Amino acid sequence: MNTPNTGATQYPAKTSAETYIDADSHTKLYQQSLASPDEFWAEQAKRVDWIRTPSIIKNCSFAKDNLSIRWFEDGQLNASVNCLDRHLETHGEQLALIWEPDSEADAVRKFTYRQLHNAVCKLANGLKSLGVAKGDVVTLYMPMIPEATIAMLACARIGAVHSVVFGGFSPEALAGRIQDGQSKLVITADAGKRGGKRVNLKANVDEAITLCQPACVENVLVVNHCGETIALNAPRDIDYQTLVRNQSSECPAEIMDAEDPLFILYTSGSTGKPKGAVHTTGGYLVYTSLSHHWVFDYNPGEIYWCMADIGWITGHSYAVYGPLSNAATTVMYEGVPNFPDAGRLARIIDKHQVNILYTAPTVIRALMACSDEALANTSRQSLRLLGTAGEPINPEAWTWFYEKFGHSQCPILDTWWQTETGGMMITPLPGAIDLKPGSATLPFFGINAVLVDNDGQLLTGAAEGNLLISDSWPAQMRTIFGDHQRFIETYFSTFEGYYFSSDGARRDEDGYYWITGRVDDVLNVSGHRMGTAELESALAAHPLVAEAAVVGFPHSIKGEGIYAYITLTDKQAETETLRTELKQWLRKEIGPIAVADIIQWTDDLPKTRSGKIMRRILRKIAADDFDNLGDLSTLADPGVVARLIETHSNLK
Ligand code: WT7
Repeated sequence: MNTPNTGATQYPAKTSAETYIDADSHTKLYQQSLASPDEFWAEQAKRVDWIRTPSIIKNCSFAKDNLSIRWFEDGQLNASVNCLDRHLETHGEQLALIWEPDSEADAVRKFTYRQLHNAVCKLANGLKSLGVAKGDVVTLYMPMIPEATIAMLACARIGAVHSVVFGGFSPEALAGRIQDGQSKLVITADAGKRGGKRVNLKANVDEAITLCQPACVENVLVVNHCGETIALNAPRDIDYQTLVRNQSSECPAEIMDAEDPLFILYTSGSTGKPKGAVHTTGGYLVYTSLSHHWVFDYNPGEIYWCMADIGWITGHSYAVYGPLSNAATTVMYEGVPNFPDAGRLARIIDKHQVNILYTAPTVIRALMACSDEALANTSRQSLRLLGTAGEPINPEAWTWFYEKFGHSQCPILDTWWQTETGGMMITPLPGAIDLKPGSATLPFFGINAVLVDNDGQLLTGAAEGNLLISDSWPAQMRTIFGDHQRFIETYFSTFEGYYFSSDGARRDEDGYYWITGRVDDVLNVSGHRMGTAELESALAAHPLVAEAAVVGFPHSIKGEGIYAYITLTDKQAETETLRTELKQWLRKEIGPIAVADIIQWTDDLPKTRSGKIMRRILRKIAADDFDNLGDLSTLADPGVVARLIETHSNLK
């Protein structure tokens, strides 16, 4: 291939199947999608089975005082029917799900579309018997096991709104999300397995429930996954197998309006508590189905593996709804990519003959760090396409992944999108868009991406600025659960008339986009999104912490690491013991994904005269970038900078 960063790489010769679209038709269709959205999306909506075909396609306005995001609004459908029932006649005996356990010694589980359909219907009937009805919020706190997918689709079948909470979140974080959604039911497992270790999910649920005041949870449904003997607290706790065993495997699906909510998924912002992103049924399904089809160029019979946990949007859109609506055979893996060693990921690919792999840059960097072990004794010849998402991919990681992992045969699809966008926004399409390592390339159909400077001035041609989207797309989130005003403020008020992504981007002379990262106070640690405000308030809750300021800093594997500047109430307490204790504290408050890499004690933080912390300065110091501190004239006490740099340098 070409040298990274110069020119575009041609799509390598395909070994199987035909691509769906070539460069010319792509350009034409993209232009049509922007010029006549109603026509374009009416046509694309046909890939979904509607109970009532929509006649109103797009009804959207980004005006701050008249915000409206409605797609296919008079259409009716059911997402679970689209992911299961409609495939039964033609693909009933085809595999829908291949489950690979954490331990290589354990048995693989497989579900055909028919088996998955039966399991979903049984659970859906079980949920109904517990009184769960259309519109109820059901919280899922699950390991990566087939029952997680089954539970999502069972909720969708009866019109319940699932709210999946990543299994790595703490009881405190789980409680906040249960409480916000006022969930009456939590579905969990005795425990999950990751990298040979047990994660005691049920114990975390028990603790979370005691934290929910006033109490809202009426039942906890528990999958016996690890065979742990755990206390079931009757009548609140119910064993999953016992509930589903005698249920019918037929369950008529609820008729949903296109704009009925399908799920809530919490995500971090720069301020306040996590926001419940609400996604609705029709637009979300059309968009995830379409993007999965075109971006992954999915051909019948191929084995597709999206590695994302179902606790994140990638897992929702591209491990469940997108691929299953397209009758794909999906792989689901319980564990971590480098357990028991870095070769595991490649062994799973060979074992299940995976053709399409969707992963994250942090995984690639971790494997690249032990390249020989990661590639040992595997051929990976089944691979045809490689995708990444969640963070910028650096050219070194791109090149290793392309040349070593994929034998220079598989295009790398670097897809930019967000929890809020529901589906991929800027992404290559195999066969139609040439690649440049590190660039997410061009906007997907219907996506009008624009760049503006900080004053909101539109930038044309090659430029760098804030990345906005100028008009709605079907998979866009509709509101923040319970706080529509915050939705408007967060996304439509900074630059009026636009959706603000909070990412920065550069557009090159070919119109290709290069995401430069968040322009707000949100960190991206190993592809996990965390708000600095959340981390700071968790740290400040410790009795010895007077004030905490958290910033990200460049980290070779995680992309970004967590750097905390902390002022204690008692200077004598500045010890290694407290440092360790605060790191554990943060893990306990948020979850194991929140690992503070560096804690620096400080007597003072750089603040403006009005008391605002100047994080820009803290970021520069954390990154050892002392020569570019920028304008310091607004600091209340300019001397603080030299002191911070000195302590920082002594830390190393
Ligand atoms: C943030 C969204 C991809 C969906 C899962 C993550 C960053 C995402 C890329 C990419 C550079 C990326 C952005 C975005 N991001 N994809 N291909 N290149 N940065 O969803 O947790 O809501 O995080 O992830 O900063 O805003 P999320």
